[in-house]
Amino acid sequence: MVKSNHKTAYYCSDCGSESAKWAGQCGDCGQWNTMIEHNVQKSASSIERFAGFAPQSAIQALSDIEISKVTRTPTGSAEFDRVLGGGLVPGSVILIGGDPGIGKSTLLLQQLCAVSARMSALYVTGEESAEQIALRAHRLDLTTDNLRVMAENQLENILVAAQKEKPRILVVDSIQTVFSDALTAAPGSVSQVRESAARLVRHAKQSGCCVILVGHVTKEGSIAGPRVLEHMVDSVLYFEGDSSNSFRLIRAIKNRFGAVNEIGVFAMTEQGLKDVNNPSAMFVSRHGADKPGSVSLATQEGTRPLLVEVQALVDDSALANPRRLCVGLEQNRLAMLLAVAHRHAGISLNGYDVFTNVAGGIRVAETGADLAILLAILSSLKNRAIGSDLIVFGEVGLSGELRPVQRGVERLKEAEKLGFTRALVPAANKPKSLSSKMEIISSSRLDQALEIFEF
Ligand code: TYD
Ligand code: MG
Repeated sequence: MVKSNHKTAYYCSDCGSESAKWAGQCGDCGQWNTMIEHNVQKSASSIERFAGFAPQSAIQALSDIEISKVTRTPTGSAEFDRVLGGGLVPGSVILIGGDPGIGKSTLLLQQLCAVSARMSALYVTGEESAEQIALRAHRLDLTTDNLRVMAENQLENILVAAQKEKPRILVVDSIQTVFSDALTAAPGSVSQVRESAARLVRHAKQSGCCVILVGHVTKEGSIAGPRVLEHMVDSVLYFEGDSSNSFRLIRAIKNRFGAVNEIGVFAMTEQGLKDVNNPSAMFVSRHGADKPGSVSLATQEGTRPLLVEVQALVDDSALANPRRLCVGLEQNRLAMLLAVAHRHAGISLNGYDVFTNVAGGIRVAETGADLAILLAILSSLKNRAIGSDLIVFGEVGLSGELRPVQRGVERLKEAEKLGFTRALVPAANKPKSLSSKMEIISSSRLDQALEIFEF
């Protein structure tokens, strides 16, 4: 009897774990209704290898392996290079996710046109026609002479073209539109996305070509498709920003070749995406900081200090459960900070609605924002401005202590560069010797810090 090479397997669309039987709940991650059927075809080579026909990979001593120097190719944008950790690495796979219309295709087209002057590049588009791409490149006035474009969704055709053309950079826009004939599932389904990504990753590793995959995001904001997609690639970048303003951030969530949480800042203009070289100047508006409820915060994004404006509005509440709302900050953190203010500084916000926001649509997730958030809230509550010359950072602990944050000196330097003359920082962040003329106000307790400002 000839044994078929086909078998059916099920795997979880959430965590990617595989099982031979269908189940209502994934045995690994516990999610319900996520097991999806998928046809697996064992490749002949794997069967042969199993039977001992094909040669195995050699086992080497780690010290004997020759290390080739990682040569990075700078793209046309300093901000994009910063997120990538210094440029594109041969053989690496990068996944870029983001909301529709945020500018993924625009960014990649601009970068590819810039890079294609130095090395061969191929742009595979499954969403737009080649003519649409050409039209956009023409409108953006890009140098298109060396860039090759292919409108294709079929995985095997893409791989054949890549093997024939041997581009050093291959962009696939988007991975959800690519499908393989080997699978019966519809394009965009988890099994298709997983298979297509796996084969493209293999191509990158074998040929040394740098592959950039564009991924759609789900309603919840994560990249559509199985989580394994993020595990397979070397770098995961997220495009952030809202449609109401022109600023766009690219954030590295995972990076095997650079720092994570690094951000690149861009502005969407008539001429496409432009680098923003001094984002701090853009996010702190010096006129806003003079008003009650507004505080300038020195935060840290990856390796870069970033100044932003934290705003708060405290208003009488008509509700039994007053509202606590955050935009760009963490909701749970706000509830915790209000409890600390009550317990350790004697300031009660019962009966008040509290709204907080980070100006410019940026998101701050680090704990170093605590002190600035509390100051902004109190400034709004007392209707008294803090002053536009003050920069604040510091974590607030549950026992009312001010805890130091990382890279305090870099934050102070960035603030000084932008003309701030006073800083409120945790005592442990006070520089021992400061060459600058900045006045440093430091405290190790929240209540002491608030006393200085007579709150
Ligand atoms: P696009 O790159 O197509 O988004 P994605 O690939 O992430 O879906 O971006 C399209 C948006 O960008 C569209 O809303 C128009 C805007 N845009 C500009 O504002 N200026 C430009 O020069 C370009 C090319 C696009
Ligand atoms: Mg697009």
